[in-house]
Amino acid sequence: MSETKSFNAKDLSEIEKLTAKYPEKQAAVLPVLWYAQDKFGHVDPSVQKLVAQTMDLPEALIYGVVTFYTQFYEKPMGKHVLDVCTCLSCQICGGYDILHYLEEKLGIKAGETTPDGKFSIQSVECLGACAYAPMLQVTNDKYVNHLTREKVDQLIEDLKAGKQPGFESNKMPQHENGSD
Ligand code: FES
Repeated sequence: MSETKSFNAKDLSEIEKLTAKYPEKQAAVLPVLWYAQDKFGHVDPSVQKLVAQTMDLPEALIYGVVTFYTQFYEKPMGKHVLDVCTCLSCQICGGYDILHYLEEKLGIKAGETTPDGKFSIQSVECLGACAYAPMLQVTNDKYVNHLTREKVDQLIEDLKAGKQPGFESNKMPQHENGSD
């Protein structure tokens, strides 16, 4: 059984501010879920229920949104969540090879977390960076592009050392200088 989750007065005030930005409260579900995920680290069923109750919306609606986006974590995850794209472009460029290499390296399968809680791996759909295939995303943030086994090795080393990946790219293609 998961522990009972709650929002404190500051949380409720933040949620009210988020909700007030939209004409209908349903429109605030995404930002409120982000807020909840930031606070709890995930939006498991107990958090989904809390969000539904707080916003006075059906739990089914919250569940539908959470399960639609891989960016929302339905269970506690590792400190670093590695979303390896295995959609078409990445797949053609070796996305599954990268995924399997990572699984072997960390000793877990996609959907699992390392026993030390440091890494989770997910196999995800297109992240909108097909030109950089194969690629992965680190914890809903940095993209690591044109992956090779060497880049995966470096990435894991960097993250273990508390460093951000040194070859991420959030840049638009026209700003790429080929140095990633
Ligand atoms: S197929 Fe991987 S980012 Fe689009």
